[in-house]
Amino acid sequence: MIQSAKFIGAFPKTDDCPKTEFPEFAFIGRSNVGKSSLINLITNRKELAKVSKTPGKTQTINFFLIDESWHLVDLPGYGYARVSKTTREVFSKMIKYYLSHREQLLNVFVLIDSTISPQKIDLEFINWLGEMRIPFSIIFTKSDKDKALAVQKNIKQFKAKMLENWTALPSMILTSAEKNRGSKEIMEFIKNAMSEAGN
Ligand code: GTP
Ligand code: MG
Repeated sequence: MIQSAKFIGAFPKTDDCPKTEFPEFAFIGRSNVGKSSLINLITNRKELAKVSKTPGKTQTINFFLIDESWHLVDLPGYGYARVSKTTREVFSKMIKYYLSHREQLLNVFVLIDSTISPQKIDLEFINWLGEMRIPFSIIFTKSDKDKALAVQKNIKQFKAKMLENWTALPSMILTSAEKNRGSKEIMEFIKNAMSEAGN
């Protein structure tokens, strides 16, 4: 379990981000996927990250120092429909620049809404990560919202879609911020990744 979580800052550009060597774990997903709720779940805080009814709130690269030993990075959501195409492209560029230039980045957690069928934009983003050889894993969110069977069906479809482009599947973790599910698995993953990297 996480002992301490401290907000370090919100940075508009990758080059402004902290120049320390703490290993980093980034969280990303479509707007409204439940990213802020999940960050609050794993850090055991109610309001570390702002949960919103209006999507598209995070527009900067947000850094949190966890247990004085690693950075949790909250990235802006991609593909938010209600901003202009130009704004969307600016964010997409900024996210991709961060993901492909941060040497400290150990893993990207891509959040996928378990209550909907596979979305093209998520699959495209994942394929881009693959092309760039950026390590990632998948977190399915909101698993409490639908019947278990519906969630399983969406996940099965998602895996099938991924296997059209991939020969193996990444780690996948099923979560619910509402029902407090999955945070142990995420922490386990982070711990393992850090020890593999020699931290
Ligand atoms: P933006 O930062 O605005 O892009 O959204 P976000 O991805 O950070 O999502 P956020 O955590 O703000 O949650 C969006 C909405 O989904 C809120 O109304 C949350 O209450 C709801 N939500 C988040 N996680 C869960 C969950 O595990 N279960 C259920 N039922 N609802 C959730
Ligand atoms: Mg958010």
